[in-house]
Amino acid sequence: MAELGFEVIGADTDKHKVDALAAGKVPFFEPGLDELLEKHLLTDRLRFTTDLAEAAAWADVHFVCVGTPQEKTSHAADLRFVEAATRGIAENVTKDALIVGKSTVPVGTAERLRGMVAARIPAGVHVELVWNPEFLREGKAVGDTLHPDRIVIGGASEHAEALLRQVYATPIAEGTPVVTTDLPTAELVKVSANAFLATKISFINAISAVCEAAGADVTVLADALGHDVRIGRQFLDAGLGFGGGCLPKDIRALMHRSTELGAHRAASLLQQVDEINMGQRERVLDLAIDACGGSVLNRRIGVLGAAFKPLTDDVRDSPALNVAAALHLRGAHVTVFDPEAGDTARASFPTLSYATSIEEAVEGTDVVLVLTEWDQFLVADAAHLAQLTLSPRVIDGRGKLDARTWRDAGWDFRGLGRAAA
Ligand code: UDX
Repeated sequence: MAELGFEVIGADTDKHKVDALAAGKVPFFEPGLDELLEKHLLTDRLRFTTDLAEAAAWADVHFVCVGTPQEKTSHAADLRFVEAATRGIAENVTKDALIVGKSTVPVGTAERLRGMVAARIPAGVHVELVWNPEFLREGKAVGDTLHPDRIVIGGASEHAEALLRQVYATPIAEGTPVVTTDLPTAELVKVSANAFLATKISFINAISAVCEAAGADVTVLADALGHDVRIGRQFLDAGLGFGGGCLPKDIRALMHRSTELGAHRAASLLQQVDEINMGQRERVLDLAIDACGGSVLNRRIGVLGAAFKPLTDDVRDSPALNVAAALHLRGAHVTVFDPEAGDTARASFPTLSYATSIEEAVEGTDVVLVLTEWDQFLVADAAHLAQLTLSPRVIDGRGKLDARTWRDAGWDFRGLGRAAA
């Protein structure tokens, strides 16, 4: 928003994050964000506070962007943060304002929040609440935000829509489709988009098991499928499956909400998507156990990758770390290397060993697992690495390594749904 020329206050309850941001430090790895932050601290268009009341009284448009994690004891979304942030704005506004929900919420939430806002705003003040979901990907957050595929605006009056269109005026909205709709449709677009992406991944992962059994190659199959423009090649990479802070919890929350609404077939479809996804971690684990001759006890295993995907240091629900921890539990000596996520991984899984280079992770190993497809793993010198191992065996957990290159360099190469040598 500062990049678009607006004056912005970022409010958060976490003092560490607010202090770091105010000092120009992004508290996580996200390409391009440091530069933007630095730039707009200097333009004075951007500042940060833990004082929600100050931000609520000051702004004309309030974006609610807080997380909606999975509840501890169920698949439902935990709405405490969205409720607290919205309540805090409503109770402290001093002038007419627009509240724009961007968080990913179960359908029906925005309508409830509207009731809460109406009950808490001061007399004489007019506040409208609309829903405008966010579709950014980690690792590509800056580009996705400044150049979105579409803008969805739900439940807006003529006035609110005009105001929001003004906010998103060039360069964002230039040529970007704007879909205006009601509140529930806007809420559902977001979770359906994530559910569709998750379904696509689980579809190719299910087919990868058929490929494996039939001696076919899922990577070639995905390329061939992808040429059909109705299908498209993206999100057809078979492997360890999806993780991170969004897809897993969003499909579970949609499963939960679908059940509440009586849409049982939708819930059962999503249940399958989740099960197939979690099963991929078992399949990779089994490949590793098999490569070690039936047991990983006391075997040395190098794991390349800890983040849930490349270009982030996010290890929330990371399939890579999940597999690394499972191997460790079975008595293997596991050494993990990730170019960016070493620190976050260590904080979540302190019992694993961490290396500071690919070579260090691979040295003296019985088997190497590539579990996050960072570019530097894909272009690594396979011949050189083979010499460092005790025995050059590699498992490609992401379907992105060039099998021929690794085999030519002397590696025993295995992958999910990949044709044998
Ligand atoms: C996702 C959505 O893409 C984004 O639009 C939404 O706003 C938030 O959730 P993100 O969580 O950043 O974004 O990750 P994404 O790029 O979608 O990848 C999710 C997971 O799927 C990763 O673990 C990735 O490795 C995995 N994946 C992706 C596959 O296993 N196969 C693929 O073909 C693609």
